[in-house]
Amino acid sequence: MRAVLTILMLMVCSTGVGEEQIPAGKEILYFDRNKMGIVTFMHQMHSMLDGVNCTTCHHTARGKGQPEDCHNCHQPEPQGDVPESAVAFHTRCRGCHQYTVDAGKKAGPVKRCTLCHIPPVKKKK
Ligand code: HEC
Ligand code: HEC
Ligand code: HEC
Ligand code: HEC
Repeated sequence: MRAVLTILMLMVCSTGVGEEQIPAGKEILYFDRNKMGIVTFMHQMHSMLDGVNCTTCHHTARGKGQPEDCHNCHQPEPQGDVPESAVAFHTRCRGCHQYTVDAGKKAGPVKRCTLCHIPPVKKKK
C-alpha cells in the first residue's frame, strides 16, 4: 500500500512543467507587427517535436499555469539585460534550426530570411 501511495505521489509531482496544453486557437501564431514581413509559426507542430517541451522556448515558465508571451519581456528595444525581440527570436528559432541541421536532420529556415519573413505585397502604381 505504501509503495502504491509513493508511486501515486511521484506521478502527481512529475506533472507540472511541460504538461500544459497549447490553448485552442493558438496552434499557429503570426508575428505580424515586424517591419521585415509576417512570420508564420507552427506553435503546436513545434511543441510536438522530439525532445521539445514548453520550456524549450518558454524559458521563464515554471510550470504554474500557462507560459506568458515572450513579448512581455522581449520588446523591440533591449530592456536592461533583456535582449530585444529580434535577438531573442533569431537566437531561439534559427539557433535550433542550425543545431538540428548540424545533427543531419530536417529543420526550419536558417539563412534565407524570406523563408520565415513573407514581405508585404507591394501595391501596383
Ligand atoms: C518552439 C518554441 C515554442 C514551444 C516549444 C512552445 N511555445 Fe508557446 N509560444 C512560442 C512563441 C514564439 C510564442 C509567441 C510569443 C509572443 O508573441 O510574444 C508562444 C506563445 C504562447 C502562449 C501565448 C499565446 C497568446 O497569444 O496569448 C501560450 C499560452 C503558449 N505559448 C503556451 C505553450 C505551451 C503550453 C507549450 C507546450 C505544450 C508551448 N507554448 C510550447 C514558442 C513556443
Ligand atoms: C519573464 C520575462 C521573459 C519572458 C516571458 C521570456 N524571456 Fe527570454 N529572456 C529574459 C531575460 C531576462 C533574458 C536575459 C537573461 C537570461 O539569459 O536569462 C532572456 C534571454 C533570452 C534568450 C538568450 C538571448 C541570447 O542573446 O543568448 C533567448 C534566446 C530568449 N530569451 C528567448 C525567449 C523566447 C523565445 C521567449 C518566449 C517563448 C522568451 N524568451 C520569454 C526574459 C524573458
Ligand atoms: C527546438 C527546436 C526548434 C525551435 C526552437 C524552433 N524550431 Fe522551427 N523547426 C524545427 C524543426 C525540427 C523543423 C522541421 C520540422 C519538420 O518539417 O519536420 C522546423 C520547421 C520550421 C519551419 C518550416 C515548417 C513550417 O512550415 O512551419 C518554420 C517556418 C519554422 N520552423 C519557424 C520557426 C520559428 C519562427 C521559430 C521561433 C519562434 C522556430 N521555428 C523555433 C525546430 C525548431
Ligand atoms: C526562423 C525564422 C526567421 C528567419 C530565418 C529570419 N527571421 Fe527575422 N525574425 C523572426 C521572428 C520570429 C522575429 C520577431 C518578430 C516579432 O518580434 O514580432 C524576427 C524579427 C526580425 C527583425 C525585427 C523587425 C522589427 O520590426 O522588429 C528584423 C529586422 C529581422 N527579423 C530581419 C531578418 C533578416 C535580415 C533575416 C535573414 C538574414 C531574418 N530576419 C531571418 C524570424 C526569422
